[in-house]
Amino acid sequence: MKRRVGILTGGGDAPGLNAVIRAFVKYGIRRFGWEIVGVEDSFNGLLDAPRRLQLMTLRSCQGLLHRGGTVLGTTNRGDPFDFPGPNGTRSDRSGDVAQAVADEGLSGLVCIGGDGTQAISLRLMEECGVPVVGVPKTIDNDLSATDATFGFHSAVEVATDALDRLHTTAESHERVMFLEVMGRDAGHIALSAGLAGGADVILLPEIPWDPDRVAEKVRARQRIGRLFSIVVVAEGALPMGADVGSPSERKARLKRGGGAAQIAMATLEGRVDAEMRSTVLGHLQRGGSPIAFDRILATRFGVAAADLVAANRWGEMVRVWNDEVDGVPIRDAIRTYRLVDIDGQLVRAARATGIELGSA
Ligand code: F6P
Repeated sequence: MKRRVGILTGGGDAPGLNAVIRAFVKYGIRRFGWEIVGVEDSFNGLLDAPRRLQLMTLRSCQGLLHRGGTVLGTTNRGDPFDFPGPNGTRSDRSGDVAQAVADEGLSGLVCIGGDGTQAISLRLMEECGVPVVGVPKTIDNDLSATDATFGFHSAVEVATDALDRLHTTAESHERVMFLEVMGRDAGHIALSAGLAGGADVILLPEIPWDPDRVAEKVRARQRIGRLFSIVVVAEGALPMGADVGSPSERKARLKRGGGAAQIAMATLEGRVDAEMRSTVLGHLQRGGSPIAFDRILATRFGVAAADLVAANRWGEMVRVWNDEVDGVPIRDAIRTYRLVDIDGQLVRAARATGIELGSA
């Protein structure tokens, strides 16, 4: 009998998800002769009645390499251990996932997702006996177990393009322009896009920023006739001494968007003599086609995930480490976030080229 393997995408989307699915399905069918079942909308496809599953074929992979989003759909509101029901109720439906996996004759699930999805997968394996293999995904690039996640470089490309566009209008109007980018508690997108896009100031969650330093940077540029400035603001960046709030307040602020750049602009009001405008790039960073780097990384991850399944290396997650793609225990992979190394080479390169980071 053919081996049947499930595959799903969980959490927020990232450019490259479809490229992972495509590589896994192509290799799984062509090399191992598996039957591959796509589960719709993360674990929800296994929990709904009727179940929402798609048989993945070579034909269903056509045109997927460059397509953004995920053809399987995704959600970040479907934790089976705390599953939302009617009228705000919540229940533990992890046992139903295990039952569905058994009913469907799946030898395991390949779960493509961020730290949340990986943590759920690990619990499903350890507490309910569901074999899982993980594939890391996040545009935030904040997983410590992997050198890179697909989607990050595509997001940086979008943000860099936005900075190029802001430059011309900022210069024409002699304005200070703020661009808020995603990244949750990590400033990787802001730092990389700021470097690539020639920002004058980059504000990171890792460095509480000093308004006096930022204002002085803008004024110093004005003194030498550079009458505009570009400020990249990570969505988690706050000025020194700001009330960061509880984790849930911070999350709510991030969800609403517009927070960090608005705060930065309001903080500089009156300190610099220039018109100011802010732009929140938001989900444009997650939409659209993956760039070549992410298509290649996603393809390598999809192939590596199939190799882990073939070798029954359940409980592992693929990752790229020193340019080699291999597997690492999910337990180790989700232990710590990777924030921007404030003593690292990228920060050093930013400071060395005169970019103001809001601290000495
Ligand atoms: O983790 C990816 C990410 O895009 C973050 O950068 C951002 O804070 C968050 O997801 C936005 O989530 P949502 O799509 O649920 O608004």
